[in-house]
Amino acid sequence: MIDYCEIDGRVIRTPELVLRPWTRRDVTDALSIYGSCAVAHWLEPEMSLVPDSASMAEILDGWISESEHAVPPLGRWAISLPTFTGGREVVGAAALLPFGPAGDDLQIAWQLQPTWWGRGFATQAGHALAHYAFAHGAAEIFAVVRPHNRRAAALAGRVGMEWVGVTDKYYDRDLQVYRLLHADLDLPVGGVRVRRPDESS
Ligand SMILES: CC(C)(COP(=O)(O)OP(=O)(O)OC[C@H]1O[C@@H](n2cnc3c(N)ncnc32)[C@H](O)[C@@H]1OP(=O)(O)O)[C@@H](O)C(=O)NCCC(=O)NCCS
Repeated sequence: MIDYCEIDGRVIRTPELVLRPWTRRDVTDALSIYGSCAVAHWLEPEMSLVPDSASMAEILDGWISESEHAVPPLGRWAISLPTFTGGREVVGAAALLPFGPAGDDLQIAWQLQPTWWGRGFATQAGHALAHYAFAHGAAEIFAVVRPHNRRAAALAGRVGMEWVGVTDKYYDRDLQVYRLLHADLDLPVGGVRVRRPDESS
């Protein structure tokens, strides 16, 4: 549950977080996420541990150009803490990606830099991205969780997702599949506001 969600183009704001497109300036922050064994462990073999800044910059370049051409709700976001003054503003990453055999379903994925685990930020980002997806016409969202990924399974539950089964169709391994329907998503007390491009404030 979040108090409000404001969608302004590809930027999504909640009380504590801003989800915004990646930029080249995020290389160091992104590396602190994808260069962490605690995160990469759960992403193999889809994505391997990113070894250095040059590799991270190359990946970010791909994501930036992919997102520029992506049709909403598809996209990739940096999860940032705008009020954090400790130097690192980006605490995590989230994405809405094509999913399913034909790629016409929608998958939500999250990764937080481990320092920021345990504070509810992924839950908040998950609610925000789900509102974004439904505001753009999605009927349902899926998440795939590797066996024993206790934190990811708990996260899916906190966002309101239901376990629908196990599949071995992807990446040659069993994955737990969760699904969120619009009706199962908590509405923020302060509502979901979608700002039109012609609104100035
Ligand atoms: C999956 C992942 C994003 C979950 O992160 P997380 O920190 O456990 O999840 P949240 O940010 O929602 O935090 C929930 C924790 O904060 C606590 N919390 C504190 N305030 C909270 C709030 N306002 N709302 C919800 N939870 C809150 C919860 O009780 C929970 O505590 P716990 O750590 O004792 O379980 C993270 O573990 C990760 O990046 N893993 C590696 C990548 C991965 O597996 N991604 C998923 C597949 S794509």
